[in-house]
Amino acid sequence: MAGIYIHIPFCKKICSYCDFYKSASFINKTEILEGITTELAYQKDYLEDEEIETIYFGGGTPSVLSDIEITRMLNSIQDLYKVSEYTEISFEANPDDLSKPYLDKLLKTGINRLSIGCQSFTDEDLVLLGRRHNAKQSINSVLSAKIAGFLNISIDLIYGIPGMKNWDETLNRVLDLQVQHISAYHLSIEENTLLHKLKQKGSLKEPDESISNQQYSELLEFAEKKQFIQYEISSFGKEGFFSKHNSNYWKQEKYLGIGPSAHSFNGNSRQWNVSNNKKYIREINNGKTPFVKEILNPLDHYNDYILISLRTMWGVDLEYIENKFSKELKDYCNTSARKFEEYGLLRIENNHIYLTDQGKFVSDNIISELLYVA
Ligand SMILES: C[S@@+](CC[C@H](N)C(=O)[O-])C[C@H]1O[C@@H](n2cnc3c(N)ncnc32)[C@H](O)[C@@H]1O
Ligand code: SF4
Repeated sequence: MAGIYIHIPFCKKICSYCDFYKSASFINKTEILEGITTELAYQKDYLEDEEIETIYFGGGTPSVLSDIEITRMLNSIQDLYKVSEYTEISFEANPDDLSKPYLDKLLKTGINRLSIGCQSFTDEDLVLLGRRHNAKQSINSVLSAKIAGFLNISIDLIYGIPGMKNWDETLNRVLDLQVQHISAYHLSIEENTLLHKLKQKGSLKEPDESISNQQYSELLEFAEKKQFIQYEISSFGKEGFFSKHNSNYWKQEKYLGIGPSAHSFNGNSRQWNVSNNKKYIREINNGKTPFVKEILNPLDHYNDYILISLRTMWGVDLEYIENKFSKELKDYCNTSARKFEEYGLLRIENNHIYLTDQGKFVSDNIISELLYVA
């Protein structure tokens, strides 16, 4: 079982908080799309002939592409890889790109899971985030997607926004929209973003931690009441609607990342594509591979495993650590976890370690204590 991720590195407007790799210049869009097709062929052996069960278009903004461009990429995947007939095909979209005719065309490409970047249902928040849509457009995009026939819709939300007042209203909107999945992230103010510059200048004040914690708490309560299962710290799905692509990633399945800045993992190595459109095109056109490869040493692999799996509802599997790495690492992990268990932040059960609801608020601190630094 394996997945393919395709990174579309273009955005019509750069949001004030985002440090994902993207460009607002579309000048080399055709060459990038040709490069992606070429890279799909170059990397054909990376997944060792495993069946593809998930394809994920992320970005950047995949919804700047036409249905013809999307179909071309999907056809290349079909031609080159063994693709399951039940493949989950996810597609990230910005609300203001989702006109009714575009949605009809998207559905016909075979995309069967739409992830819409609503972020908030309050206009003031959207202005601060530098989004190019308002709350009404977000709501309409979800409704139109449903009318078009999409049966698996996820929305992205952000909390912890400076000055945010209506998080509860945003959650109520989610309910009205009856979507199958929510990804909700705490706003992180990253270097090289406009929000970071404003913060440095002193003109942006981050919300107090107690406010963010309150919002996260409301989110957990909302999810539990409304039957959204929290299967990862930021991911909530109705039964049967977890993101298969992300779940496979969290369960250490293989995935191949195509396009500028995309990452890949095949059990033994990780690789990172160059985060620069021009360099990516140059390397591909020169017949070179556009990535840096790292063969994982067991300690890095253990640390990656902890970092990813403790955030999920499947938790850390101590038996897996012993079999895959060593008894010493298993004992180290178990001992480190015990002290958090005493404080009710972790639960250790059936040879697995899980975050408790309380632990979810301080997950980064707990994870860093479970990592092994040589
Ligand atoms: C990289 S975006 C791509 C999707 C699409 N371009 C959009 O903006 O709707 C994926 C999601 O990551 C989240 N995200 C990106 N930067 C973030 C940040 N600094 N803090 C919190 N969430 C962030 C947003 O919710 C966004 O929808
Ligand atoms: S959040 Fe989405 S639309 Fe905004 S800059 Fe990042 S990738 Fe582009």
